Amino acid sequence: MPDTPYDLAVIGAGPGGYVAAIRASQLGMRTLLINKYEALGGTCLNVGCIPSKALLHSSHLYTQTRVGLGEHGISTGKATFDLQTMQKHKEKTVTALTGGIDFLTKKNRIEVITGSARLDKAGAIRMLDGKKKGSAINARSILLALGSKPVLLPDAIVPSALMDERRVLTSTGALDLPSVPKRLCVIGAGVIGLELGSVWARLGSEVIVLDRLDHLAGLDEDTSKAFQKTLEAQGLVFRLATDLLSVAANKEEIAIKVRPHGSKEETFRTSHALVAVGRKPATQNCGLEDAGVQCDAQGFVAIDEHFRTTREGVFAIGDCVRGAMLAHKAEEEGVAAVEALAGHRTLVDYATIAGVIYTEPEVATVGLSEREAKEQGVAYKIGKFPFSANARARTSGTGEGFAKLLFDERDMRLVGAQILGAEAGTLVQELVAIMAYRGTAEDIVQICHPHPTLNEVLREAAMQGLGRAIHI
Ligand code: FAD
Ligand code: NAI
Repeated sequence: MPDTPYDLAVIGAGPGGYVAAIRASQLGMRTLLINKYEALGGTCLNVGCIPSKALLHSSHLYTQTRVGLGEHGISTGKATFDLQTMQKHKEKTVTALTGGIDFLTKKNRIEVITGSARLDKAGAIRMLDGKKKGSAINARSILLALGSKPVLLPDAIVPSALMDERRVLTSTGALDLPSVPKRLCVIGAGVIGLELGSVWARLGSEVIVLDRLDHLAGLDEDTSKAFQKTLEAQGLVFRLATDLLSVAANKEEIAIKVRPHGSKEETFRTSHALVAVGRKPATQNCGLEDAGVQCDAQGFVAIDEHFRTTREGVFAIGDCVRGAMLAHKAEEEGVAAVEALAGHRTLVDYATIAGVIYTEPEVATVGLSEREAKEQGVAYKIGKFPFSANARARTSGTGEGFAKLLFDERDMRLVGAQILGAEAGTLVQELVAIMAYRGTAEDIVQICHPHPTLNEVLREAAMQGLGRAIHI
């Protein structure tokens, strides 16, 4: 046991790390939280979940004012927006929330050090910069919550010299543009591409989204097709099943060379490009190898079911380990790891971690998709219901999309769902609860749902799966 005042040192103050530190303190551990940047909250609060949702909300309000109010008989004159004010609102939100985490660390008596940390051979933490530069810190246990960073494309396709965050962007630059791009080519039709593509399309950019897949990743064919159609109606142009060959730029414009599958090469021009082809664990240059903490071929820290790495006393959670790169997954793991350390029985129910794309309408997924059920040989039954047949959706003019529930055919237990529709991210939580308690279609149907609510879509979908939908 090292001679140290700290029971636990957490490296990384994203949603995984800071939540773990708070829980550790609640459990009576003397806790140190080390973070590269002064602003706590990691990717999620500073350059991820929160700033993107602020811009999504502001740009949605603008679209609603511009085109959504007329059918309700409301006119406000010509809608305009001021991007600087929108960005200020985003920044104010981020500052308030990161300040909130500062408050919480103080309230929980967590010591915070700003600077980059590295592990050494002896398992001590070395500070590479900041006020404590050069010092060695010991702790009885160390929790790695190092997070992730954007995947960049090979230099031959997108030269790194072009990645200036002004014209050729990662999500970080795309959240911080000082003016609306004339044209934006989004490379990667994943969550970031669709959310940030939506923001800039709503504000007036011509947005082209390209992906090598022929569908939107993670979605079943019907959900993907309907979602794509909805986004196309909002002005996004899709070029799926297309390989990106190169990105080149001169002073005036950016040339994107592509080859659509089964067709010949072509080049189109854009003013800006967003590279959104995934994220990778931020596990380089942290001394993990020196300390005997093994990573897999993709750089994810290897852990067992109790979040233990290959070095005794060192644990890892969140985006730097395998699994969905989501803030709530990182939080769940942070709490579970620390509780395990305190001798509690812990469980993260990975099958019920939902994913939400915060476009308009939203898309929410949980558990198995139909595609995965087929691949895994799970015999299933589908229950599906459109929002257009839901009274509440009609009153608010949000009748697009459907809820699709996947049941295990043997006992009609709910094993997955995809919802494309208004408030999908909120609605999905009812299904998460049902799945967490191993509920069935009949369980959903037996629960009385208030009328008129969007949640009735879920009940009707379950009824449809049982062959007794009322409203279709
Ligand atoms: P991070 O939040 O990445 O935090 C890691 C922290 O560790 C950082 O502060 C980093 O500086 C610090 N660190 C790393 N190495 C060191 C070191 N050596 N020394 C000291 N400090 C170090 N997820 C959702 O669930 N919902 C969303 O709506 C959502 N939106 C997103 C939008 C965007 C644009 C992006 C990019 C991501 C989004 N995500 C969203 C994903 C989410 O941000 C991540 O899954 C989440 O932040 C992971 O949490 P984490 O604690 O594992 O890591
Ligand atoms: P992603 O994994 O969601 O999507 C990447 C897309 O890029 C895929 O469709 C893939 O086919 C495509 N792609 C990969 N290489 C390509 C190439 N060479 N050319 C063309 N297309 C290519 O990754 P994304 O959008 O970068 O997001 C990263 C992570 O951040 C995700 O894992 C997600 O979980 C998280 N995130 C979550 C959000 C949320 O929960 N609402 C919002 C934003 C990000």
